[in-house]
Amino acid sequence: MIIRAGKKEDLKFLPELLMKSYKGIEEYGEESIDKARRYIDELYDEDPKCFFVAELEGEIVGFVFCNRFWYSKFEHSQVGEINEIVVIPAHHHEGIGKELLEAAMHQLQTDKVELWVGANNKNAIEFYKSIGFVEKEHTEKWI
Ligand SMILES: CC(C)(COP(=O)(O)OP(=O)(O)OC[C@H]1O[C@@H](n2cnc3c(N)ncnc32)[C@H](O)[C@@H]1OP(=O)(O)O)[C@@H](O)C(=O)NCCC(=O)NCCS
Repeated sequence: MIIRAGKKEDLKFLPELLMKSYKGIEEYGEESIDKARRYIDELYDEDPKCFFVAELEGEIVGFVFCNRFWYSKFEHSQVGEINEIVVIPAHHHEGIGKELLEAAMHQLQTDKVELWVGANNKNAIEFYKSIGFVEKEHTEKWI
């Protein structure tokens, strides 16, 4: 498995991966593959250099989008943001999410990193906790 910088040509593979990865937690996913495509294009446009994919035997099995220019209303300053991270269910618990997140954090070049996670998305919450993120009081924003 390799983690590499994402390319514009990779985007077409991501909507299906996103739809599959949000099975069971649809309330936090996208309603349709078309909406997923638009969402992914928007994430890419926010900061094209803050996009990494995990590739296994030539196939993309996970991705992360981050943003180096996010303005935090909690910190009242610019921080790094993790916008989306997804690993295909068949490859969960193999350390791929952690490696993707580490690539994004390295690119963000700050120890102030925020993300939003749904309160019922227990797996992702445990994942972020394991990396060292802590919950901001009375919000669903993590830093
Ligand atoms: C969250 C997600 C990206 C994690 O990816 P992953 O590749 O399975 O995570 P990793 O294997 O790198 O896990 C790293 C650590 O996180 C924790 N963790 C990950 N998944 C967990 C789970 N389901 N339950 C408890 N802890 C979990 C563990 O401590 C794990 O370390 P360990 O395997 O040594 O115990 C993946 O579950 C996913 O794609 N979920 C659907 C999309 C999503 O919710 N994205 C986040 C949006 S905010």
